[in-house]
Amino acid sequence: MTNTSSGDPLAISARNLTLTLGSNAAPTEILRGIDLDIAKGEVVALLGPSGSGKSSLMAVLSGLERATGGGLTVAGADFSGMDEDGLAHARRGRIGIVLQAFHLLPTMTATENVATPMELAGSDDAQPRAKAELEAVGLGHRTDHYPTQLSGGEQQRVAIARAIAPRPELIFADEPTGNLDVSTGEEIVKLLFERRAETGATLLVITHDKSLAQKCERVLTMADGVIVSDTKNAKTAAA
Ligand SMILES: Nc1ncnc2c1ncn2[C@@H]1O[C@H](COP(=O)(O)OP(=O)(O)O)[C@@H](O)[C@H]1O
Ligand SMILES: [Mg+2]
Repeated sequence: MTNTSSGDPLAISARNLTLTLGSNAAPTEILRGIDLDIAKGEVVALLGPSGSGKSSLMAVLSGLERATGGGLTVAGADFSGMDEDGLAHARRGRIGIVLQAFHLLPTMTATENVATPMELAGSDDAQPRAKAELEAVGLGHRTDHYPTQLSGGEQQRVAIARAIAPRPELIFADEPTGNLDVSTGEEIVKLLFERRAETGATLLVITHDKSLAQKCERVLTMADGVIVSDTKNAKTAAA
């Protein structure tokens, strides 16, 4: 565990977090009281059956979605007191997100996909930083390619470069190997862990893959909108 930053040693602190969606007449409780502390630099896997609320929890912890109730502090910012604009601002540069379906912008090259979030955050050297990060994920020869010209594994490398290039404090990955074959998935996990270790970021990764979970320091399991187990792995590749 790396507590290199000063101040709060916690990357995430959630208290009785709830998320209720749907109409007032027919509300659906998606998250039903999440209590969770994650230390800075920790590498955590999130497991659980489909529909248990993993993606919803990630959406709330990463500021993509507002919780309905409870307290939430992420990277030192009080997310529970913020509106959507506040959350969008707080996310910028602090939080990197990697999704199963890559979500690259089809009209932009690999470099532009990586550089654009940094440009929006006010960086004046976004292009060279994007190129350097694409080099680091092994795509130095694909920087001017468009997403449709790249394989699934290559697109996920671009997505990892985009998430990591701004040097976020936190990285969230939602089934990052879900759309990839087994050996490409293994390469992507290796790369994600290498780049994470390089930057010391906190990582929360949603997965169904037990071997990926074993590489993490800590494993959370969700069922029906709550965390039902929280265990530490004795020895991990992430440390
Ligand atoms: N926008 C929504 N409105 C209503 N229910 C939703 C919405 N999004 C997700 N759900 C429901 O929330 C539950 C948790 O979903 P999700 O967080 O995607 O689970 P997981 O990622 O573990 O598969 C599911 O029952 C799903 O149907
Ligand atoms: Mg999901």
